[in-house]
Amino acid sequence: MRPGSPGFRIRPMTVSDLDSMLAIAASLPEMPRWSREAYLAALTPGTLPQRIAFGAVATGTEALAGFAVVGMVPPESELECIGIAPVFQRQGVAKALWNALANELRRRQVTETLLEVRASNQPALSMYQKLGFRETARRLRYYADPPEDAILMQIRLKECAATDVPHT
Ligand SMILES: CC(C)(COP(=O)(O)OP(=O)(O)OC[C@H]1O[C@@H](n2cnc3c(N)ncnc32)[C@H](O)[C@@H]1OP(=O)(O)O)[C@@H](O)C(=O)NCCC(=O)NCCS
Repeated sequence: MRPGSPGFRIRPMTVSDLDSMLAIAASLPEMPRWSREAYLAALTPGTLPQRIAFGAVATGTEALAGFAVVGMVPPESELECIGIAPVFQRQGVAKALWNALANELRRRQVTETLLEVRASNQPALSMYQKLGFRETARRLRYYADPPEDAILMQIRLKECAATDVPHT
């Protein structure tokens, strides 16, 4: 965490986080328009693809500040979504979530993470670049409503340093 910002605890999410997760997603137009059932599947052990869903809570509270979901088929994985509630943005929460996820993925013998993002989503593009993702391709008019290109990005996990983000 950066000096002076409140601390956040990163933890695996469970089905009991579903409503908080949906509320955060609804407040962020850039998030994928998943149904309630799709978010529930991301929190339900045993569904395929296998997923890791981590949430960030502000220290001393149980309020969810943000979350990230990765789908994986080792040795590959895909960062499916990451969203931080507007009031908690620019405090290092997404970075802390990714660091915890990357450590967990390495532990599970995952060596690579892919993602796709709307070409106009400059905050997310800046964040992914800062985290070490590199652009690998562009899919023309991949998204609908509104039509837009997708930028594909990739990171090799052995290339990013393991960190010791608190994880309970
Ligand atoms: C993109 C998003 C997840 C970033 O979360 P965050 O917790 O605010 O990000 P962090 O504070 O960890 O920022 C890490 C780095 O990302 C970059 N970054 C984050 N937000 C940025 C913004 N609005 N503008 C430019 N760069 C940004 C910066 O380099 C930042 O490091 P710095 O603050 O030291 O400069 C957040 O803005 C969000 O939830 N957006 C809506 C949902 C979304 O677009 N998700 C991605 C597609 S699923």
